[in-house]
Amino acid sequence: MAKTALVTGILGQDGPYLAKLLLEKGYKVYGLIRRYSNISFDNLDYLGITKKINFVEGDMTDESSLLHLVKRTMPDEIYNLAAQSFVGASWAQAKLTTEINALGVLYMLNAIKLFSPTTKFYQASTSEMFGTSHENGSQDENTIFHPRSPYGISKVYAYWMTVNFRESYDIFTCNGILFNHESPIRGMQFVTRKITDGVAKIKMGLMDKLSLGNLDAKRDWGFAGDYVEAMYLMLQNEKPDDYVIGTGENHSVREFVKLAFKHAGINDWEKHVVVDVRFNRPAEVPNLKARPNKAQKQLGWKAKTSFDDLVKMMVEADLKRYSVKSV
Ligand code: GDD
Repeated sequence: MAKTALVTGILGQDGPYLAKLLLEKGYKVYGLIRRYSNISFDNLDYLGITKKINFVEGDMTDESSLLHLVKRTMPDEIYNLAAQSFVGASWAQAKLTTEINALGVLYMLNAIKLFSPTTKFYQASTSEMFGTSHENGSQDENTIFHPRSPYGISKVYAYWMTVNFRESYDIFTCNGILFNHESPIRGMQFVTRKITDGVAKIKMGLMDKLSLGNLDAKRDWGFAGDYVEAMYLMLQNEKPDDYVIGTGENHSVREFVKLAFKHAGINDWEKHVVVDVRFNRPAEVPNLKARPNKAQKQLGWKAKTSFDDLVKMMVEADLKRYSVKSV
């Protein structure tokens, strides 16, 4: 019989890439959607898999909806990718961020414990939990957490709850501590997509200036399509554990900008970029860089897409989008 997986966050960036991978492996995929007045299947459409998903309704902040859902579907695996995932919005909406990202995970774990204790659970943990903490400029599974935003704090709660259900109830739970991962279907508010979309608009003559915040922040950026493979591998492993997932290389926002303009054939990038402090955060995370050795050793996972290829892929996809629109 086909394996079953429930994916939360199915309409986001990672949900579609993961669902595609699981469908290719023969899984029946349930995708959790909440009630929206305006629902968009664009990201699933982009990968051509909308019709293959079994949509189920529920909400991470509504415990009873998750209890019913897990009882009814009893999936082999649950991948929790649902979140208020934009760090910048988490100061103004700290309670909502906590309810979705922290309590939502507790509700899901309780549902597993009560109705489907053999279900394996993947939690989308994040390098934002490290915040300002590092050893010689990089982070691994042993680096202590020092989150710098309500988003990071909510994710630390979820991380430990995921560990605790493993230790208390022997449930197969894993945390993937993912560093930044991007793609052509990345949300527009995140810096990489804001840049590649802006560069494409400038190239097409639809815009002249791109306003950004802190250009000095450094991130370890990889391709989302590579990272969902790590999620899958964690749940296929013999024992549940927590893994740092990243490329092991980092770059500044400035470097990303420069390269994106270069791939669009624009050399005078500085003329088009305006620094606007309104995009600065109350507390910044200045430097994230993964040491993903454990994932490589135990899961056989390694990032495949280089920084240059990632930026090129995103710029080309946005240029194509605007060229198609202007025809
Ligand atoms: N969004 C945004 N917009 N960020 C900007 C801008 C801007 O105009 N200008 C500079 N930045 C800087 C931010 O201050 C931050 O240091 C960096 O660019 C990256 O910002 P985001 O792309 O918004 O991502 P993030 O690192 O805060 O969070 C992402 O990665 C985490 C993993 O480390 C999100 O995907 C999180 O959900 C994820 O957990």
